[in-house]
Amino acid sequence: APLSSVFNLHEFEVIASKALPEKVYAYYACSADDEVSYRQNHHSWARVFFRPKVLVDVSEIDLRTQMLGQQCRLPFYVSATALCGLGNPAGAECSIARACAQPQWRVPQMVSTFSSDPLAKIAAAVETPQLLWFQLYVGGDRTATAELVAQARALGLSALFVTVDAAQPGNRERDLRFKFSNADTSKGPSVMAAGQTAQGTSGALSKLIDPALSWDDIRALVRDSGLPVILKGVQRVDDALRAAELGCRGVVLSNHGGRQLDFSVPPVEVLADLVPELRKRGITKEQFDVFVDGGIRRGTDVLKALCLGASGVGIASPFLYANSLYGQEGVEHAFDLLVKELVLSMRLLGVTRIEDLNEDLLDLRGLYDR
Ligand code: FNR
Repeated sequence: APLSSVFNLHEFEVIASKALPEKVYAYYACSADDEVSYRQNHHSWARVFFRPKVLVDVSEIDLRTQMLGQQCRLPFYVSATALCGLGNPAGAECSIARACAQPQWRVPQMVSTFSSDPLAKIAAAVETPQLLWFQLYVGGDRTATAELVAQARALGLSALFVTVDAAQPGNRERDLRFKFSNADTSKGPSVMAAGQTAQGTSGALSKLIDPALSWDDIRALVRDSGLPVILKGVQRVDDALRAAELGCRGVVLSNHGGRQLDFSVPPVEVLADLVPELRKRGITKEQFDVFVDGGIRRGTDVLKALCLGASGVGIASPFLYANSLYGQEGVEHAFDLLVKELVLSMRLLGVTRIEDLNEDLLDLRGLYDR
């Protein structure tokens, strides 16, 4: 299908399901058990409605905002996905990086610990390294983990997103049907260690993640990493508050796209509960960034998250599919679609600036009706 026939972010997955090798699609699309959290992530955004304002001059729409204290042109980022090279062996993470770095987008890219391209190559692919963030899986060997963090910092990656919802990969049966082999990932040195025999790509990667990860490790990373630490995969208000107390710079409310614990709550519900608790404690948006991901596909979904107090949102699979199918151009097309939807929806909502989005613009009465 020509790129011009892709009208929204959902369609990248539809095309990918037909065009990608079965095994690659199985790893990219798999989620845990009966995939209930996966589906609920998507449905949850549809339980929030708008209360638009009329007769506001909306000729000029400004999408600029701040994430992690940095000026950003747009209120979303590319969330980490392991092994972008499975779907796009020639481009992998570097081609996503080149899309993100274009001056009209300048979208931050969160790079997975399990990237196909080596970190140094990704950092060299873009001119502005401050747009790169590092997603960290803490391994059993803490010295190796510390070296990885030091390398990311030396290469100019500017934030550390520590994934905390994956003590072990979820039970992803679509992926389990296929054997992982190192031939799938000739480029990723950390992944090489995973060996040939594991069942499923997720299973192979799991050997590199330490299930003993605890709050003490987070305390150490906050103290020693030299980077702002954000916990990715927080799913409860009390854990988010604890992260703030510990000196983290923020959290990503996420259930890993439903790939970890099935029946973990949709992150939008946690977002709606958390932000009032933070404000009650005098913790501002400038001090502590709350991000959210999972099933965000439309400009309206992004706006709902921002109205609820998110600093920005993460989107993963659509960009992964876009890059697999069309490379850099596909990722840029996805950005373009999202930006057009954002501008249109802001106009129809009657708001011209991101900072003016708030909960008063939402009808949340259906939010918890699963
Ligand atoms: C992921 N995700 C992920 N997260 C992470 O912290 N480290 C990783 O290496 C990966 N790898 C990964 C691979 C694939 C194929 C997918 C689909 C997802 C999770 C991702 O960052 C995000 O939290 C979820 O995918 C939810 O966002 P979407 O995909 O619903 O927009």
